Amino acid sequence: MYIVFEGIVGSGKSTQSKKLVEYLRQNPPSPLYQGGTRPEILHVREPGSTPIAEDIRHLCQGKEWEGEQMHPLTNAYLYAAARAQTLHTVVRPALESGQIVVSDRCFLSSCAYQGEAQWLGIDTILSVNQDAIQGILPDIVFYMDIDVETALSRTFDTVWDKWEKMGKEFFESISRGYDKCEKLDIMKNRFIRIDASGPEEEIFDRIIRQLKI
Ligand code: TMP
Repeated sequence: MYIVFEGIVGSGKSTQSKKLVEYLRQNPPSPLYQGGTRPEILHVREPGSTPIAEDIRHLCQGKEWEGEQMHPLTNAYLYAAARAQTLHTVVRPALESGQIVVSDRCFLSSCAYQGEAQWLGIDTILSVNQDAIQGILPDIVFYMDIDVETALSRTFDTVWDKWEKMGKEFFESISRGYDKCEKLDIMKNRFIRIDASGPEEEIFDRIIRQLKI
């Protein structure tokens, strides 16, 4: 089982993924027991969760160069490279050994951020990512649906993330990007929109209800 959380900054994605990891560690779902043993729950983030992918994270969003901006295509390939590293060295082996993987973000972030907000187009992103992903698709994507103004009014940490300093229009286009992701054929029966407004515990209940565990 490969579960992904997606959303814009301030959507509560990371808070809810942490809560789900804690919940699954305390209440392992019985149909997922592997030969009577509790499945381990692995929490990862994209870009990141390996030293190489964390370094690429820094290159993509935490570093600035004098007189030069990173081209959106360069950005897209770097995110895809980090993704390849995390998926093939950490996520796939974990899934193959029966673990449950919970991830903050997947290639849909590239579709929304680079494809829509950075204008590359979702088809370009899918083609850039095809070889990186090699068919490793999330079983479930929880999209934390929140209006941009509410999300931006929440406090969040902008350290090492150039995107989080962008304005409202940028995040509105990312939301539009996620709307397009929901309609992708490969996301059929995998994309679940969660109302991410209201108190943390209520949002978490909505997620657990969807998992039916
Ligand atoms: P996060 O820790 O808040 O999820 O930070 C990841 C940032 O990187 C976030 O601003 C979204 C951005 N990002 C992309 O632009 N493209 C991608 O493919 C991924 C995975 C993240």
